[in-house]
Amino acid sequence: MKFFVDTADLDEIKELQQTGLIDGVTTNPSLVAQSGRNFIELIGEICEIIDGPVSAEVAATDYETMLKEGRKLAAIAKNIAVKVPLTPDGLRVCKALSDDGIMVNVTLCFSAAQALLAAKAGATFISPFVGRLDDLSQDGLALIEDIVEIYENYPNITTEVLVASIRSPNHIIESAKMGAHVATIPPKVIRQLYRHPLTDKGLADFVADWQKTGQSILDAA
Ligand code: G3P
Repeated sequence: MKFFVDTADLDEIKELQQTGLIDGVTTNPSLVAQSGRNFIELIGEICEIIDGPVSAEVAATDYETMLKEGRKLAAIAKNIAVKVPLTPDGLRVCKALSDDGIMVNVTLCFSAAQALLAAKAGATFISPFVGRLDDLSQDGLALIEDIVEIYENYPNITTEVLVASIRSPNHIIESAKMGAHVATIPPKVIRQLYRHPLTDKGLADFVADWQKTGQSILDAA
């Protein structure tokens, strides 16, 4: 499973990139607004740090303007994935850009029917929003299962399922069990993945017992 970090916070991206576990970045207009940064400059700086796909979302909603915005975003760097909303115009833009060899991440997906349309439009990634469905007491993970099952029936579908709107490590684990290709994860949830109280206790015990030996690996002959 590929791990993308779901943030526009450059400091968070720099720190998490050093883990060696980050395969890409996703942003969206709300995350960019939270950063307070110039959008084009910020995306350029992220692309200098991250080799994998960096998702940058169009702001318009009409075909003509989204297409122009998408081409401008794609020109920033070779690893840009242009994000477009799952609307009729958004999928028209997806088809046009993917036909030109530009990566496209179709976002705001909330149904399997939408995901099937995005695959037919040549999407590189489909972003079903698990957390926002859960927020409405619907089953976000069931959507992931449906999309993976449908895509697996058609070898010509190369669209990768990019699980988005992740709220917990459980969303990641369950999506991985279903075979989703990518999880885009908020920094806070990435850090939760490392944590287990038995790891902390076990390490403290190892350190304490080693100190009792009075030995040093580096000082040993
Ligand atoms: O960035 C796309 C998606 O992961 C955002 O979801 O629900 O955290 O705003 P949410």
